Amino acid sequence: MPAAASYQYRIVADQNFIVATRDAGYRNLATALAELIDNAIQAGATCVRIFADCGTPSLSQIAVLDDGSGMSAPALRMALQFGGTTRFNDRSGQGRFGMGLPNSSLSQARRVDVYSWLSPEAASYSYLDLDAVANGKLRYIPRPQAVRVPSWAVEYAGPSGTLVIWRNCDRVPTVEKTALIQHLHVNFARMYRYHLWDGFRLLVNDQQVFAIDPMLCDRRAALRGATEFQTPLFYTMKVPREPQRTAQVRVRFAEFPIAKWHGLSSADKRSRGITRRAGVSIVRGNREVAYGWYFMGAKRKENYDDWWRCEITFDPELDEYFGVTNTKQQISPVPELEDTLSKDLEPMARLLNSRVRATFNTLRKDSPAARLAVVRDRLLPPATSLVSSSCVSVDARRKVHSSGFQYKIEEAASSDDSFYSIRLSGAKLIVVLNTNHPFHRHFFQNKYKDGSNERYRLECLLFALARAEAEIKNERELDFCRRRRIRWSNVLATFLGN
Ligand SMILES: Nc1ncnc2c1ncn2[C@@H]1O[C@H](COP(=O)(O)OP(=O)(O)O)[C@@H](O)[C@H]1O
Ligand SMILES: [Mg+2]
Repeated sequence: MPAAASYQYRIVADQNFIVATRDAGYRNLATALAELIDNAIQAGATCVRIFADCGTPSLSQIAVLDDGSGMSAPALRMALQFGGTTRFNDRSGQGRFGMGLPNSSLSQARRVDVYSWLSPEAASYSYLDLDAVANGKLRYIPRPQAVRVPSWAVEYAGPSGTLVIWRNCDRVPTVEKTALIQHLHVNFARMYRYHLWDGFRLLVNDQQVFAIDPMLCDRRAALRGATEFQTPLFYTMKVPREPQRTAQVRVRFAEFPIAKWHGLSSADKRSRGITRRAGVSIVRGNREVAYGWYFMGAKRKENYDDWWRCEITFDPELDEYFGVTNTKQQISPVPELEDTLSKDLEPMARLLNSRVRATFNTLRKDSPAARLAVVRDRLLPPATSLVSSSCVSVDARRKVHSSGFQYKIEEAASSDDSFYSIRLSGAKLIVVLNTNHPFHRHFFQNKYKDGSNERYRLECLLFALARAEAEIKNERELDFCRRRRIRWSNVLATFLGN
């Protein structure tokens, strides 16, 4: 259609732009909401509450309330503008492009209402409405009005703060509400782990989000147990905007305790974030901006790679190297960085992968003594005591009754003094050798080669001790036996010396 003489060729044709920009590319609801959390954190909030209401099948309204500094009426008006920001290209926090608030909001909702207050009595309110912009009725950010904070939010509101409400969330997937809430919890727990450990509070529908460490090794994390592998790698890079200054990239690796965790159920492994989470956590400042298979060169992802993790932390000053986009949820590293990091990370990934593979191989392989014990176990009277205990599954009990025990030796540090202990895992009778006891060093560790006669005889002895204990019929006898075992382990330690 030819433009009328009066047509103003504005740089941005907002009627179309506002619809087109909905596809800005937020990967999911969590990454879109993260923009609002980032803003709140940057405004000094100590607590952010997300209220995800249920409308029809999908969530139709989502509100985010923070107790940060709040905004004046002019600042609020600017906040709703695409590109409007008080910190353009700033690198001190997450905000940088002035796109986060309007862009993330309209990527999920058809309307966004914002209330902000510097003191409890005087809130300002403004909004953006997709349909009103698209049909030409709304051409400027509405002048903020003096209002009250919505009554339902008053009990949660701080003396200053901001409340953003997404209405008519037509882009939020129509999955079950509980699944969506779970998705938010899991993602925020990882993305904001460093803030959460520092005392920042985040609640989704009144439920607090607790930090998850994808490396499973931070001492502040509820789910942990992995150990850091080697020492971190550091890379000093020139700050692109000021080449006379430098900033650092830090890379850490963690290894999971395979012997301890490989026996967990598949559901447990998934819920603890062990399986299906192979990859690298990319942390900008102290917020995770991406998670995936990065800087691995030609190394493809395999199942073994579930058992180690990597974390890369970088200063926002280095955004240009990492290719951080305005939606802050992905990276597209420049070739120079890709080359520098993958030169070290690919061999490291291969090394960690091979360590996992080797551990699984030794775990899977039954020793000759274990194989023979399985066959000869049937010659012995059935062992009932351990097997009848309530923690043994019906399945395992049936298996032991029909074909006896399977046998295995594991090594682990134990806090009591006995040089071995026994435990049942399914139908497997496991002799756990205490690595703190001198017996382990004198007789076992690196002592006899796998498959040697000496090793075979030693294992037979250990399996026999365990099998005899498994035959004990009552708690009293079992307790007596346990105490005797500790006693003679102590005597043995004295005789062997350290
Ligand atoms: N929750 C908030 N509290 C205080 N100020 C905010 C909040 N959200 C947004 N702002 C203000 O609005 C501006 C625009 O936010 P946004 O569109 O996310 O861009 P950016 O974060 O890149 O600056 C910010 O620069 C900030 O001044
Ligand atoms: Mg922002």
